[in-house]
Amino acid sequence: MAPQPSDLAFVPFVSVDHMMGLIHHIGIETLLCDLADAIEADFKRWELFDKTPRVASHSDVGVIELMPTSDGEMYGFKYVNGHPKNTKEGLQTVTAFGLLADVESGYPKLLSEMTLLTALRTAATSAMAARHLAPKGARSMAMIGNGAQAEFQCLAFKAICGIDEVRLFDIDPAATAKCAANLAGQGLKVVSCSSGEESMEGAQIITTCTADKQYATILTDNMVGSGVHINAIGGDCPGKTELHRDILMRSEIFVEYPPQTRIEGEIQQLEPDHPVTELWRVITGQTIGRRNDKEITLFDSVGFAIEDFSALRYVLSAIQGTPFSTQLDMLADPDDPRDLFGMLQRSSQ
Ligand SMILES: NC(=O)c1ccc[n+]([C@@H]2O[C@H](COP(=O)([O-])OP(=O)(O)OC[C@H]3O[C@@H](n4cnc5c(N)ncnc54)[C@H](O)[C@@H]3O)[C@@H](O)[C@H]2O)c1
Repeated sequence: MAPQPSDLAFVPFVSVDHMMGLIHHIGIETLLCDLADAIEADFKRWELFDKTPRVASHSDVGVIELMPTSDGEMYGFKYVNGHPKNTKEGLQTVTAFGLLADVESGYPKLLSEMTLLTALRTAATSAMAARHLAPKGARSMAMIGNGAQAEFQCLAFKAICGIDEVRLFDIDPAATAKCAANLAGQGLKVVSCSSGEESMEGAQIITTCTADKQYATILTDNMVGSGVHINAIGGDCPGKTELHRDILMRSEIFVEYPPQTRIEGEIQQLEPDHPVTELWRVITGQTIGRRNDKEITLFDSVGFAIEDFSALRYVLSAIQGTPFSTQLDMLADPDDPRDLFGMLQRSSQ
């Protein structure tokens, strides 16, 4: 009889359908809060993680990246792409999937879709950073770039930072209309704006989340008043930035992992030794975040592997006892570990 897969052959797989089911089951705002807490907890143990700038394969139209890390017990990686031209062809700008494995045996423990999970973890990370950096009592956020990530960002800032107004702007009014329609009834005052300047009127937090494969200038220096917090999401590749250099010179800059952000973030426009603060040091209380209500704080976010690791670990624990995964026959696991070929031979009998 052909060999049957052993229990060890199976790896839980979270499909897109399962991920959507899980999000509805938990509730998106609860999930965003849980994720922010999971990511913050891992930022508190930052030093024990393996860290490396992500491995990027660039082409003229986009990038494909691998993002690995490990805390010594589990290993994780994410595959992610970034192709700003994709939406014009009916494709997503960003898609992703990822894996968690047991460091002790090297056997995978989870395979998951991560396109939705990336939007959730990026939003949770942004709002978690703003919890430490934004001016106290911030209620209004400008949301510039109203594509795939935008609603997730708005809901995370509502659930985690207490934002109750979002002011939307996109160069494509259809994107703003989509975003406004999706946010209707979510407990936010939604204002659709016809310029970046209008979106920033009265906003204490400015999120830029646009996609363009070039140095863009979504914000110029004269647009940014004192005391605001800027959450810059879309500048995340060499040659792909959103803020004018002069804004960076006026801001206190907070980053995830400097060796990666110096290559990919807004700070690629600055000297390689321009002072920046690692967010984990603020979170652990080693250094101060916002110092006063006049300074401009900037979270120069590029997305770091530890955030994906935290998100995957959260999903692995959240799916336990739920129907939101299937078992994939993913690992060849012969009875005699050295008889891989024998297993193959017996499977034809
Ligand atoms: N930092 C991170 O962790 C992280 C994570 C995920 C995505 N991203 C980045 O965030 C960006 C947005 O991702 P997405 O999935 O929402 O992309 P998307 O293509 O779905 O949406 C981008 C939106 O930006 C708009 N836009 C482009 N240029 C603009 C401009 N000059 N002014 C105003 N709007 C403009 C487009 O019309 C589009 O609606 C991408 O650049 C992506 O690489 C970063």
